[in-house]
Amino acid sequence: MAINPTQALLTGFAERANRPLAQRQIAAGTEFALGRREGPHIWNLEGTHRLLDCATTGGVHSLGHRHPELLAALHGALDQGYDAGIWTMPNAPLLALHDALAACAPQGLTRSVVTLCASQANDLALLCAQRATGRRHILAFAHGYHGHLGLAGAATGSESEGIRTHFALNEAPIRFFHTHGDLAELESLIDHTTAAVILEPFDYESWRLPPASFLPALAQLCRQRGAKLILDETRTGLMRSGQMWMCNHTGTAPDMLVAGKGLSGGLYPVGALLMTQEIHEACINSHAYGWANSLAGNEIAATIALKVLEIVQRPQTIANIAALEAATRQRFAALIQRHQGIFTPATIQGGIATIGLADPSHAAVLHKRLFDRGVLMHSTSTTEPHVAKFLPVLTAGPAIIDELANALDSAAHSLSN
Ligand SMILES: Cc1ncc(COP(=O)(O)O)c(C=O)c1O
Repeated sequence: MAINPTQALLTGFAERANRPLAQRQIAAGTEFALGRREGPHIWNLEGTHRLLDCATTGGVHSLGHRHPELLAALHGALDQGYDAGIWTMPNAPLLALHDALAACAPQGLTRSVVTLCASQANDLALLCAQRATGRRHILAFAHGYHGHLGLAGAATGSESEGIRTHFALNEAPIRFFHTHGDLAELESLIDHTTAAVILEPFDYESWRLPPASFLPALAQLCRQRGAKLILDETRTGLMRSGQMWMCNHTGTAPDMLVAGKGLSGGLYPVGALLMTQEIHEACINSHAYGWANSLAGNEIAATIALKVLEIVQRPQTIANIAALEAATRQRFAALIQRHQGIFTPATIQGGIATIGLADPSHAAVLHKRLFDRGVLMHSTSTTEPHVAKFLPVLTAGPAIIDELANALDSAAHSLSN
């Protein structure tokens, strides 16, 4: 029997690129290779299956696929004669990006380092914390994820997605805290050896928000004990939560903040580490090569990131995210009402949309049920509370929430039959 282009790619991928990824799709019955894509939708290679992208690669595609203004910025950068630049020489787009990051940063984070990705920014943040404090230990969330690189990889506690045991990173000076939002636990763990506490502003697995007092109190505790607070806003930043950074909701001022994923506009790799001037002086300016990366911070990346920062801060974008949040609240409440025993309330904030799963066994099948109904979900949580997670495109109209809710409604009927 003839195989289609997706199957041919999957076979080659399994043989010569990444077998677990290919096998995961095959095992789940969700074979899909990316063909056409536009705004909130993606199509398979054959053009026979359209999905509403509610995974957005964790926020990489937060502004939708191939946003016209970002495409124009990319073409413009090429037409202007830009390339990867020469990292030892200054360039105007990169300096403009540093200034734009400082202008939208949480209070005090007036300096930044532009990186290739968030993993690299997290790794650098942990190195900087060690140098700035003269201490070694890092405290990270046991169910967190900060990347696949260096100290960031070692600080990734998530066993299913992390590589600590696999690559024998267990010797790294990382300690873990177990309950996101529990200040008392952190109070008992932060001591005179703690260089940094690193975490996302929400729980990595469930996206549950901590009590509003948690992050400001943690910032204060870190200051009192001489440790640096690093917020990894790779997923929560860039207006995903309805504010530029999730820490803005509680007025928390971290010592360092990591941005990534969506900063790329889904088009060109780039990440950033925002930091105080004091840390910048102590870590980047006090060594001839405090930061060096031959490809990061190039002119094309900087041009795209600048345009992303401009788009996400526009009043229309912010209003659209508020409309998406309102539509999500309304549609998810109706689903919970209609499908008692299947759905329960969970976190909704800005473009962060979760719905609880009353029966944890449904987590294993929901992805496929939604895939068959034209929706690509982000994931389900592997720890309690059990939720289904969605990161819709922030610039699409509320009709995408109807599309998502209708698919959830139909999937729920299939689960109860
Ligand atoms: C919270 C968080 N931090 C860091 C990263 C690493 O990002 P990247 O793989 O783009 O380096 C991810 C990626 O999923 C993430 O979710």
